[in-house]
Amino acid sequence: MSHDDTTSFESLSEADARAAHTEMAAALHAHNEAYYQDDAPVVSDAEYDALFHRLVALEDAFPILRTEDSPTQRVGAAPAHGFAKVQHAIPMLSLGNAFDDEDVGEFLTRIRRFLSIGEDETVEIVGEPKIDGLSVSLRYEGGVFVRGATRGDGAEGEDITANLRTIGDIPETLAGDAPDIAEIRGEVYLPKSAFNELNQTQEENGAKIFANPRNAAAGSLRQMDSSITAQRPLRMFAYSWGELSADVADSQWGFLQRVSDWGFQKNPISRLCRSLEEVLALYRDIGEQRASLDYDIDGVVYKVNQIDLQRRLGFVSRAPRWAIAHKFPAEQATTTLNGIDIQVGRTGSLTPVARLEPVTVGGVVVSNATLHNEDEIARKDVRIGDTVIIQRAGDVIPQVVRPILEKRPSEARTYTFPTSCPVCGSEAVRDVDEAVRRCTGGLICSAQSVERLKHFVSRNAFDIEGLGAKNITAFHADDLVNGPADVFRLAEKRETLLEREGWGEQSVDNLLAAIDERRNIELDRFIYALGIRQIGQATARLLARTYGTVEAWRTAMSEAQDRDGEAYQDLLNIDGIGVSVAEDLLAFVHEDHNRQVLDDLEALLDIAAFEAPQSDSAFSGKTIVFTGTLEKMTRSEAKARAETLGAKVSGSVSSKTDLVVAGPGAGSKAKKAAELDIETIDEDEWIARSEA
Ligand code: IVH
Repeated sequence: MSHDDTTSFESLSEADARAAHTEMAAALHAHNEAYYQDDAPVVSDAEYDALFHRLVALEDAFPILRTEDSPTQRVGAAPAHGFAKVQHAIPMLSLGNAFDDEDVGEFLTRIRRFLSIGEDETVEIVGEPKIDGLSVSLRYEGGVFVRGATRGDGAEGEDITANLRTIGDIPETLAGDAPDIAEIRGEVYLPKSAFNELNQTQEENGAKIFANPRNAAAGSLRQMDSSITAQRPLRMFAYSWGELSADVADSQWGFLQRVSDWGFQKNPISRLCRSLEEVLALYRDIGEQRASLDYDIDGVVYKVNQIDLQRRLGFVSRAPRWAIAHKFPAEQATTTLNGIDIQVGRTGSLTPVARLEPVTVGGVVVSNATLHNEDEIARKDVRIGDTVIIQRAGDVIPQVVRPILEKRPSEARTYTFPTSCPVCGSEAVRDVDEAVRRCTGGLICSAQSVERLKHFVSRNAFDIEGLGAKNITAFHADDLVNGPADVFRLAEKRETLLEREGWGEQSVDNLLAAIDERRNIELDRFIYALGIRQIGQATARLLARTYGTVEAWRTAMSEAQDRDGEAYQDLLNIDGIGVSVAEDLLAFVHEDHNRQVLDDLEALLDIAAFEAPQSDSAFSGKTIVFTGTLEKMTRSEAKARAETLGAKVSGSVSSKTDLVVAGPGAGSKAKKAAELDIETIDEDEWIARSEA
């Protein structure tokens, strides 16, 4: 279809509008790539602008299409190939969230329980404002700044050294004595005052207006030309570290002092607290200062002060057990609900999405929000035409909170939730104990296959550069990619790709190279990428850790189809996998089509065996059972330590158990271990061996 006539958009059906959007967005994306990464624009500026404005007009007519990843919403250039990759020696982690005082209380209680610290003893906590900027890792060797990187996916970021060198808060050399290798981490931000000035200049120059200081900081840091970055008065607060060749402090508070001696900025309103009351008072205090600070913050981060305690507490999944982010309440706004659309997810879930009159909430324009599920619509009694309160917190999808009943117009109408899939027409059903209605179309539902593909290439899965949600959607629509394995067969379609609007030799070859680069994948990422219901990153890791190789995992899964057999019991024995997760997993691998996908992928890929952390440890790959009372460490600490050493912790003793740690009161498990002739040790022996 032609998109030349912007006035005709109103008359499009939503499906046609969606198709047009996908096509135009893909073209703009390709033009951006050609312009920013390849320095080789394929269209004139005027043509680009015209296309851009048509997309804006289309989104005006169908605001639900104005998603965050639309080219109309993008922040500056996002060079995909421009920066070199940097592996973080120590991963850059994220933080768990606390939303109210109770969550904070529980966080402190968990720490005490884990470390077995009584109420009479103080656990010091450092509270720091959570800066809403971009985290970076700065590497110093011999006291000299050698490399700076973005967080990226936490394991691998981009080398933005040249841009970081333009920031005054980042010292070129560390004053005083610093360890030979020191990686300092912190948040780069653009002060609010500078943001306002920048947008003013941008407007005068007819350049892009940034939505908020964070986006402006991101756009500034990702410039290929560091002289542009130099014109943006970026700043940085240091708050954490990566690799260190020697200890620099024994507490977070001491660390902040050390980095400030070296020439970094430490945040001046951070405080050392000694109780829950002090922590909560600090939160209120920082909340009151929030508006008058010259930088955006979105909460307060609490960190256990003593570093030896941090070490003992360790990590769960990708976040430290010793820190948490206490978020500020969501920002709210009032707007009109123009309609409700249904989005079909990867697992067939039907999610109602509110189409809103665009409104600014916390610095971001919101035009759609989630209504969760049909019960929520009924419970909140939300009707089309209502004036509604919406809220958004951080990166979370905006939500509809409630309608304002006094403002309900007489023509407001209730919404009838569909009982068939709006995409493929299959029946949509609800399980008795489920809130979600799901499309039963499975493979024939194109919405499900697209969503599965989007997940497959997403950041924590295959993470293929240049193959994001937009391109994969466009490729799927044009039959280039129907299933996951087709991604790795795209090279066969090189000619067809070259014929696509906006694609040239260079961009196609870049894409194919990026795909090739991902033929090697770790088992946990691979399992996660499959998009099996309930199998998130943490569970995928558990499976990878337990089974080791893709072959072993698949064999175990097919054996576990026998619910009376040992393999099924072994699966359930994995700490963290219950019957419901196991059933979703087994249902997935039972399906012929999915087995075919697995076969195809195995043939196309090199799936690396799971590497147990600390593979040199005596416990690596061993299965340990803890039983009875542990007196010197809590069960959770023992389990975490075993896992750090590369062991699996199981809840029951079987012939697969390698070691039993039995405390006083150990009963049937210790007896079974004796019967099976499995080595059994006491807690002291466990501590001695695990510290060795
Ligand atoms: S500490 C292992 N401290 O929040 C702990 N993070 O949600 C590492 N952030 O990626 C993070 N202010 O970008 C820490 N004072 C602060 C922070 C902070 C902002 C960001 C950081 C991190 C994210 C985690």
